[in-house]
Formats: sequence, C-alpha cells, structure tokens
Amino acid sequence: MKAAVRTRYGSPDVLDVRDAPTPAAQENEVLVKVHAATVNRTDCGMLRGRPLFARLFFGFPKPKQHILGLDFAGEIEAVGAGVTSFKSGERVFGMSPSRYGAHAEYLCVPESGTITTLPENTPYQEAVLCEGAWYAGGILRGFGVKSGDKILIYGASGAIGIAALQLAKAEGAEVTAVVALRHIELVKSLGADHVIDYTAQDFTQIDQTFNFVLDAVGKTTYFKCRKLLKPGGTFSATDLGPWGQNAWLAIWSSITRRKRVIFPLPALSKTFMSSVKTLMEAGLFRAVIDRSYPLDEIANAYRYVETEQKTGIVVISVIPDDRNDSA
Ligand SMILES: NC(=O)c1ccc[n+]([C@@H]2O[C@H](COP(=O)([O-])OP(=O)(O)OC[C@H]3O[C@@H](n4cnc5c(N)ncnc54)[C@H](OP(=O)(O)O)[C@@H]3O)[C@@H](O)[C@H]2O)c1
Repeated sequence: MKAAVRTRYGSPDVLDVRDAPTPAAQENEVLVKVHAATVNRTDCGMLRGRPLFARLFFGFPKPKQHILGLDFAGEIEAVGAGVTSFKSGERVFGMSPSRYGAHAEYLCVPESGTITTLPENTPYQEAVLCEGAWYAGGILRGFGVKSGDKILIYGASGAIGIAALQLAKAEGAEVTAVVALRHIELVKSLGADHVIDYTAQDFTQIDQTFNFVLDAVGKTTYFKCRKLLKPGGTFSATDLGPWGQNAWLAIWSSITRRKRVIFPLPALSKTFMSSVKTLMEAGLFRAVIDRSYPLDEIANAYRYVETEQKTGIVVISVIPDDRNDSA
C-alpha cells in the first residue's frame, strides 16, 4: 500500500510517500480502506515530537509511530475472524488514537475502538471530524455545559473551536464566538449567538460575564480572561499556556476546589462515536473543510496546518472514491 512514512522526528521534509506493508486484520480488528484522513495539530505535534517531553510517550530518541494520521473515513475491506459488528463493504469513520496510521491506504482498527458506520449520504471527506469533537467534547464535559449557560469561545474558527461551538449549541448554551473578521459569517452559520472580531476589539474588555471561557487556540491566558468569568465560572484552554500555567492553575483549582481553571486530558468515552454520529445525523455537527490535498502532497498539508491559519479541517484524499467521494 501507499503510505506517508517517517522514521525520525522533524519538519514535513522527513515524510516519504512510498510503499509500505499492508496491515492484516487480527482476530478482533477490521481492515479499513482509507478514503479520507486529515492533517491536524495532533499530527503536527507527533511529526516534530513537540512538546519535547511528549517524546517519552511518542518514542525516544526515534518515534514509535512511522505512519501518522488520527482521523479516518473509508470502507471496511476485511474483518478478523472474531468480528461481529462490522462487515466488508460498510462505510465507516472514526479515529485511531493509540496507533495512528490513517495516512496510508489501509489501516487496522480494533472492533471495539473509535469507529462506527457513517451516517447515510455523508461523503468521506466530511466525516474526518472527530479530533475536534474529541478535544472540545472533553472540555465541555469538564465544564458541565448545560442549556442556558453562557460560554465564550476564543478562536472559534479552528478545528477545536468549531467543534466546541457546535457542541455547545447542541447542549443549548448561548455562545459568544471570538474570531477574525474573515470567519464571522462562518461562525454565525454554525449558530454563534454573538460574535466578536478580535482584530477590531479587545474581547477581554467587553462588559459581560460568562459561565465558561474556552481558549480554543492557545492564544490567550486565564489571567487575561478571568474578569470575563461569572462567580463560580470556569476557564479552560487547549494548550498548556506560558510555562505550562494552565496545568498548574488546574492543579491549584482542584486543591482549592474552586474549579476556576480546568485542563482535562483528552479521554474517550465508550459512547463517543455514537454521539458524534447522532449529532451529525441531526444536522447539529458538521465538518468545515478548509483545503484538501492528495496523499502525495501531504507534506504541503502539514506545512499549511503548521501556519496555524486553517479554518476547521485540512483533508487528505488518500484513495479518491469512485463515487465522487459520496455515497
Ligand atoms: N500538541 C497537540 O498534540 C495538540 C493537538 C491538538 C490541538 N492542540 C492545540 O489546540 C489548539 C487548537 O487546535 P486547532 O486544531 O483547533 O487549531 P487550528 O485549527 O490550527 O486553529 C487555527 C485557527 O485559529 C485562528 N487563530 C489564529 N490566531 C488566532 C488568535 N490570535 N486569536 C483567535 N483566533 C486565532 C485562525 O484564524 P485567524 O488567524 O484568521 O484568526 C485559524 O482559523 C492549538 O493551539 C493546538 O496547539 C495541540
């Protein structure tokens, strides 16, 4: 099979699109023919081995995962002897958070893993949206967002911000999205109740308070945002922040039991895929695709994602679908 392979940490130049052995489904695994994947910020961190301490998990001194790629959508090519819930030919989507490997034409996923069948008529490239839901969903669960809560999402135009906006709206929250001028129409179309253009106005100076403030792009801090929090309100972010302060503040918050800052590590619930699918079917959660690249040009996709300018997701068309990438 064709795959984007790397054997060392580094820039997108270390990627080599070449032949690699096709994996075989074990007893309780399915073999997926990958039609679409993404390059996301998780892949970028894995590629470069950043932050450096993460190499303790990713592999030191060389990376353990030679083929990256977290999100996938494709077709079941084969199933292991013990698999009962999937069959060949089914259209599926999901994530491969423990093995990665979606930047290749074939990928094995455990039957019990983060995989489910695609909502009917969903094109493959519109189904590679789980990474944002994974991170955003974890934070919103940590907040305990419920109907009527007021939440401010700073950086609501990135993959995680867009997911957070849609998931918060699905819970019935009142969402204020902070984005650059070029994203205003997009976030309104996704349901934002109020929009602030951060290039025209300092959002930390507005005369309003919120139950929750989420820094979805790691570009602000708790100390700048705390005046926006209602008494008992909570701040969270997708990045550690300067000097890892978000993790330290979260530890302090849990010691004082004030829940002022939380920094939940991404975890997967058993119901994650079914809830994503249900929201997609209800029209409450959709992909916003910035660009699409063929697998051969994946290094350019990484270079673009590393600009930190993408809107939503960047798709990799791994095996273009005969049916015009639709059902
Ligand atoms: N280390 C990891 O493994 C890992 C994994 C996933 C996510 N993360 C972190 O999570 C964060 C979000 O990830 P993501 O994939 O959602 O990001 P993303 O999609 O790359 O976010 C890019 C978006 O952020 C907007 N943006 C850039 N600068 C901004 C600013 N100063 N204020 C507000 N918006 C700004 C950009 O639009 P404009 O430039 O037009 O405003 C763009 O739409 C990132 O900080 C990332 O480091 C880390």
